[in-house]
Amino acid sequence: VHNVGVIGAGQWASNGLRVIAESARCRLHAVADLDPARLAPVAGRHPGVRTGTDPAVVVDNPDVDLVYVATPPATHAALAGRALAAGKSVLVEKPFTTDPADAAVLVALADEQRRTLMVGHTFLYSPPVLAVADLISSGALGDVFYVDAQRVNLGRYQDSGVLWDLAPHDVAILLHWLGEAPTSVSATGRSFVSAGREDVAFLTLHFPGGALAQLHLSWLSPTRLRRTTVSGARRMVVYDDTAGPEAVKVYDHGVHRSPAPESFGEAQLTYRTGDIRIPRLPAVEPLKAMWEHFVDCVETGATPRSCGRQGLVTVQVLAAAERALRTGRREPVAYPPLSVPTARMEVSA
Ligand SMILES: NC(=O)c1ccc[n+]([C@@H]2O[C@H](COP(=O)([O-])OP(=O)(O)OC[C@H]3O[C@@H](n4cnc5c(N)ncnc54)[C@H](O)[C@@H]3O)[C@@H](O)[C@H]2O)c1
Repeated sequence: VHNVGVIGAGQWASNGLRVIAESARCRLHAVADLDPARLAPVAGRHPGVRTGTDPAVVVDNPDVDLVYVATPPATHAALAGRALAAGKSVLVEKPFTTDPADAAVLVALADEQRRTLMVGHTFLYSPPVLAVADLISSGALGDVFYVDAQRVNLGRYQDSGVLWDLAPHDVAILLHWLGEAPTSVSATGRSFVSAGREDVAFLTLHFPGGALAQLHLSWLSPTRLRRTTVSGARRMVVYDDTAGPEAVKVYDHGVHRSPAPESFGEAQLTYRTGDIRIPRLPAVEPLKAMWEHFVDCVETGATPRSCGRQGLVTVQVLAAAERALRTGRREPVAYPPLSVPTARMEVSA
């Protein structure tokens, strides 16, 4: 049984705390949060758990072997770095870090310490996302032309802005689906309500294989939409994360170009509208599946699906999008080598 320490006991961590407490292979051992008011309900719900306002109750605790970091994004690098340096395996919430250099340092540190480092890209453990991944990798959709993703709702405003809050999900999903990273990103965004942090952003990602992706991200939408269209050369998919068992619809639709006969000039386009199929999805809670995958990887040494390197690439894409927001230009996504000296790490939170 693994002893788990959790840093950050805010809104989202309450889900993680439940999943950890319910895991047969884990024991919730210690929880740290700067705010004592967040710790009181945790202590009430999980008797016997050590709590403290100093992250040291987790990172400097020799009994803890797994650490879950669920604090605000700007604190992830320092806290995850301290936990890795202390020899723990770490699951860090999204966004992995707010700076690609920090993400590279964490990846190198995990390698050096031979510990599991995983990022909380929850959607990579969600049945509809995995069903679409299968449709793409099996060739059922044909070459992917483009992906159009709407992830919009009202609030909740956070320091990091809507780009760093919502885009990590779609970027991680796209990396997993397409199996490649975009080469460049363009972005438009605005801070309508709160100066200095965008509450609306539109991103366009250009992939080397030719696919295009458009992400609509907003904290200023009256309705909550999680709707992604994947248009392929053979079939098309609409993935609506709010639609429960009908989250994935596969449309046997397409547009085909038949070569023009010599004598008639223009190529002919034919439109095909066939059946619409709804694949059956397993009833799995993504967060639970993510946590159990983390424990599996710790025990077997396997590389997590949402590993640190994948998290690093995600942060590189987000950083390029952030640059594009500032410059108004299409920005290349940089992929620096991973051999960043670990000495760069500020090991103090
Ligand atoms: N995977 C997902 O689907 C998903 C969903 C929501 C949020 N998140 C992520 O979870 C993280 C937390 O989000 P939230 O909505 O719970 O935020 P929150 O503000 O509700 O909670 C953050 C908590 O961290 C504490 N904290 C801040 N700095 C700390 C430090 N240095 N040491 C210890 N505690 C500290 C705060 O007191 C607060 O209780 C974020 O990274 C967010 O992006 C992930």
